[in-house]
Amino acid sequence: MIHRKTKVFVTRKIPGAGLQLLQKQCLVKVYPHDNIISEQELIRGVRWCDALLCLLTDKITKKVIDVNPRLKIIANYAIGYDNIDVKYATEKGIPVTNTPNEFITDAVAEHTFALMLAVTKRIVESDRFIRKGKYKGWAPMLLLGTELKGKTLGIIGLGRIGSGVAERASHGMGAKVLYYDVKRNLPFEKKYHAIKTSIQDLLTKSDIVTVHVPLLKSTYHLIGRKELAMMKKTAYLINTSRGPVIDEEALVQALQKKKIAGAALDVYEKEPHLAKGLEKLKNVVLTPHTASATIEARSAMSEMAARNILAVLQGKRPPQLVNPEVYGKKVQRK
Ligand code: GLV
Repeated sequence: MIHRKTKVFVTRKIPGAGLQLLQKQCLVKVYPHDNIISEQELIRGVRWCDALLCLLTDKITKKVIDVNPRLKIIANYAIGYDNIDVKYATEKGIPVTNTPNEFITDAVAEHTFALMLAVTKRIVESDRFIRKGKYKGWAPMLLLGTELKGKTLGIIGLGRIGSGVAERASHGMGAKVLYYDVKRNLPFEKKYHAIKTSIQDLLTKSDIVTVHVPLLKSTYHLIGRKELAMMKKTAYLINTSRGPVIDEEALVQALQKKKIAGAALDVYEKEPHLAKGLEKLKNVVLTPHTASATIEARSAMSEMAARNILAVLQGKRPPQLVNPEVYGKKVQRK
């Protein structure tokens, strides 16, 4: 049983059934504006609540966590949780949860594909070309792109999304799959005729490199100047993971100097700002961190975040816990 006066603060209106699920059992306050919440407003909400439902744009720092010693859960509305100081939350015994699910996996894998096709087939460039009135009739050399069939796709990070991309590339497009991950996955290799390589081999051999790792200290600038220099001049780089995994300034330079053929990005190093010169490049396709923006995915995320909160408020372990250590040891609360 949850006490009816249990307070949940939600940092932005979210789609789907999550809010109603919470409202049935708790007192819910949703930040009412359509902008990223300021630290001040966030702190005000955290101080007020028992449970926090936050977004990947909210920095849940030590300072924010410390304003409320009663905080029972930090439920992120995202798969990634690099916006949260998980180490500190764990020290304080606060469960942190996220929202991975099959819908978000499919949404991001599909979006990765959309970016891949858009950049290799020059779809956005073509659209702009027509709208500017430049189309004067069919021409043999007009906006030549490249095909995916038979090409080598290098997947960095073989989690759910990386595997979803591999499935589509191998079974749907007839591409060859290389992958790099800290773990080897033999069933995956068999199913998709995939080969595990070093990151260097993957970069030198792939026609398309796609990144699907979480942002960690060890993945920060995983793709920098040196790595970009290893890629083929004809290769493309796709990123739907987290911006800082790629050194964006180095990427702009590589693209300007035609060291690689193109890039398609959904995430940026200093979101929502872009590295200088990125928006001027023709061989780049950009989307505003919308890879998971399908009705299916965002609704499933909403329900999952709510279920994580309700479980904790009922004294249960939440279904999508990212810091299981909080249940493993006796932790100090203030
Ligand atoms: C989106 O970027 C997510 O982590 O869910």
